[in-house]
Formats: sequence, C-alpha cells, structure tokens
Amino acid sequence: MNQGTSSSTVGIDAIAIATPRAYLDLVDLAAARDVPSDKYTKGLGAIRMAIAGRHEDPVTLATDAASRLFARAGVDASRIGYMAVGTETGIDHSKPVASYVHGLLGLPAACRVFDTKHACFGGTAALMGAVEWIASGAARGRSALVVCSDIARYALGSPGEPTQGAGAVALLVTERPRLVELEVGHTGTYARDVHDFWRPLSRRDALVDGHYSVSCYLDAVAGAFGAWRDEDVRRGGAPLARTAYHVPYVKMAKKADRHRAIACEGLDEAAAEARFARDVGSSLAFAAEVGNVYTGSLYMALAALLHAEAGVLEGERVGLFSYGSGCVAEFFAGRVAVGAADVVESLALDEPLRDRVRLDFGAYEAIRRADGDEPAGVTADDEVDVASDRCAFVGVDAAERRVYRRATHGSTPRADAASTAAA
Ligand code: CAA
Repeated sequence: MNQGTSSSTVGIDAIAIATPRAYLDLVDLAAARDVPSDKYTKGLGAIRMAIAGRHEDPVTLATDAASRLFARAGVDASRIGYMAVGTETGIDHSKPVASYVHGLLGLPAACRVFDTKHACFGGTAALMGAVEWIASGAARGRSALVVCSDIARYALGSPGEPTQGAGAVALLVTERPRLVELEVGHTGTYARDVHDFWRPLSRRDALVDGHYSVSCYLDAVAGAFGAWRDEDVRRGGAPLARTAYHVPYVKMAKKADRHRAIACEGLDEAAAEARFARDVGSSLAFAAEVGNVYTGSLYMALAALLHAEAGVLEGERVGLFSYGSGCVAEFFAGRVAVGAADVVESLALDEPLRDRVRLDFGAYEAIRRADGDEPAGVTADDEVDVASDRCAFVGVDAAERRVYRRATHGSTPRADAASTAAA
C-alpha cells in the first residue's frame, strides 16, 4: 500500500541480528543483588541479557549484523546507495559508526552514509529516511542498508541494571520487499520534551528516571497510536493482525499493548490480556534472551515475530511502535509479503542466539569495571582473541583512532577497506 510517487511497494526485504558472544543469566544477577529472581524473570520478563566484551562495541555489532544480512540474503553490496546507523551509544563525538561500517563492509563510495540519534528512535529515523529516499525515486533502483546498534548500560546495582543488553539489527530496505511492505506516509507521531532517560557526554552509563520513563512511554503509545488510528479510520485500513513494540524489557511491551487496548480502544482487562497473548507474545522471544538493544529493540521484536509466525502472517497487516526517550514516538504499519516465510527460513534469524557463552557474575562485574580501559597504541596487525568470523575492536592507535579487525568471511570487503579500518 505504498502511497509514494511510484506504484511499487517499499519496505524491509531482509533482516539479520547480531549479539555479543556472552550473556548474564538474570537468575545469577538476582542472586548477586539479593533480589527474588521472579522480580526479574516474571516482573520484568527478562531471562538473559547480552554483555559486550572488550572487543565488541556498536561498530563490531553493526558490522556483524550487516555482514550476516549480506551473506544470508545474498545482498549485492554495490547496489547500496544509502547506509545509516541508528545508535545512541556511538564511540566518537564526531566520526559516525556508519563510516566505520561503510569501510569494514566495503560499500560503494557513491553512498549517503550517516548516523541518526534520538535515543531508541534513531533506527526508526534512519528507516523512515531510507523508505522515503526509495519512494521518492532518488534511489534509482538502489537499496538502503539501515543498521541499529547499541550497548544498553546502567550503573551497577541500579534498578535499570536488569534491563541492560547489547545487539544490532540490520535491515535491507528495497522496492518490492520480500518481508514487509511498509505503508509509506501513513504514520502517527508524538513528541514531548521530557527528562525520562539521558546520558551526559561524560558518562558511559545511562541515567534514567525509571518509573517516570514508563509513564512517558505509555503517554507516547496513546499519542502516536491515536494519531495513526485517526488517519487509518479515514483510509479504511484493515485490522492489525500483530503489533511489535519497542521493548526496553519484555513487561513494557505488555504494559504498552494493555494501555493501547484499554485507554485507546475501550477493551476490558480480559480482552486486553487475550489480545496481548495472541498479537504481541511471539515478538518478545529474542528480547527475553538479549535484553534492551535500544535502537534495534523494535526491529528485534519484528525479527522474532517473523521468525515465529511469518507463515501465518503472509498477507496480514502488522503494527510497529517505536519509542525514543526525550521523547518521540511513531506508530506505523506494514503488510507481511506473500512468500516471506521462505525468506525468513533462509535468514536463520535466531542463529546468533544459539552460540553464546554464559558469564558468571564475577566475570560480568569485571567486564563492567574495565569499561573504558581500551588497549592503546595498537596497530591493525595486533592479534585479538575473537572468533575470526566476527568483527573485533582491537584498541586505539597512537593517534587515538579506533582500530578494527574485520571478519574473515561473511562480508565482501573492498581492497582498500583494511586501511579504512586501521586509519
Ligand atoms: N515476583 C514477581 N514480580 C515482582 C516481584 C516478585 N518477587 N517483585 C517485583 N515484581 C514486579 C513488580 O510488581 C513490577 O511489575 P509491574 O510493573 O507490572 O507492577 C516489576 O516486577 C518491576 O518491579 P519494580 O517496579 O519495583 O522495579 P524497579 O523499581 O526496581 O525498576 C524499572 C523497574 C523502573 C523498569 C527499572 O528496571 C528501570 O529503570 N529500567 C530502565 C528504564 C526503562 O527501561 N524504562 C522503560 C521506558 S523508557 C524506554 O523504553 C527507553 C529505553 O529503551 C530505555
């Protein structure tokens, strides 16, 4: 249902996720913090949270997600003309994560490359730009790569600690997409200047007014969904079969859907509970394993939804809710393409979750306490103890430039990409 200048559809053609190798089990965190484990596993809905090691950062996670996308979906890198990274945990005040990823992947020089930031909304801003770039005709048949990549970190021992996580989601945006045809120009937006969550420049850990952030998120659901629904009624849109939400922790998606159901749609408690189980439940499986991935969180929920149910959802309409603290939110929708189930199977979306290592609490604390101790004076030739199919942060060189080792397979690097990575 593309409303743009062309009669063709625009949307998400392929998805891939990446997570750090290590995770902390929430039962282990609860024991260390002397909290009943049910508070984390049932109260917040978190089972595990991914923990980034010293050779992983938003650049490596983004590169791994995009490399996997290219390999699994058979992407022709020379056809990418737009590459944007949504992140709120960038590693430099000026040089974007996107520039590193552009170099590490060997993308064409004729490419619009940039980062987008608005807390967890940055990925959606990048996606909307990509969709509109294609729908406007400016892409001239080329595709867009959108990557959401973040490491969610709160102070040790703080209420936010069990809602950490890390990961990236890469989206290939094209005409005639094989997964989800987005409804171009039909979105509901909501914004308000609030201090619910922020991270001053000097800090690595986010600061958050936790319970206030939950109420800001719920106000944003009502605002963005209400705006979208008013327009949808005018257009005579079909019902939504499923909805994927931004998932800072699993229970938040339940609160969001319940608020929408009761406050905006007039459902009673029982109907709201049944709708959540049917329409939202399957989108939360990856978030329960990885935790909050900030910009990528909505798209990890979409990946989980398609992984679980693409077959039954072909031809159906799905809603998408993106929230960025500060705050801005957008509700939009798309139709799952006919044939999506076969594509989803070939993408093996859950593969990165299978090969992981459980950290004990002491190892987790040691990683956190070493935050910021980056190896210095390194060169691109320095060895790092990371699997060769993963991109690795080696350290900073004598001029404080970040040095990366790219994965030895899974991507299609340009011949001069090594100098980009080490420069
Ligand atoms: N067994 C079962 N459930 C239990 C329990 C037990 N023993 N003990 C407590 N619970 C339940 C509570 O009833 C509560 O459930 P409800 O919310 O349904 O009432 C839940 O566990 C959490 O308990 P508390 O509210 O007491 O937890 P808390 O005060 O320690 O912290 C939090 C909760 C505020 C969400 C905190 O984890 C936090 O600050 N997280 C980071 C902020 C965040 O994620 N905000 C979300 C909106 S902002 C956003 O979306 C942007 C973003 O990505 C950050």
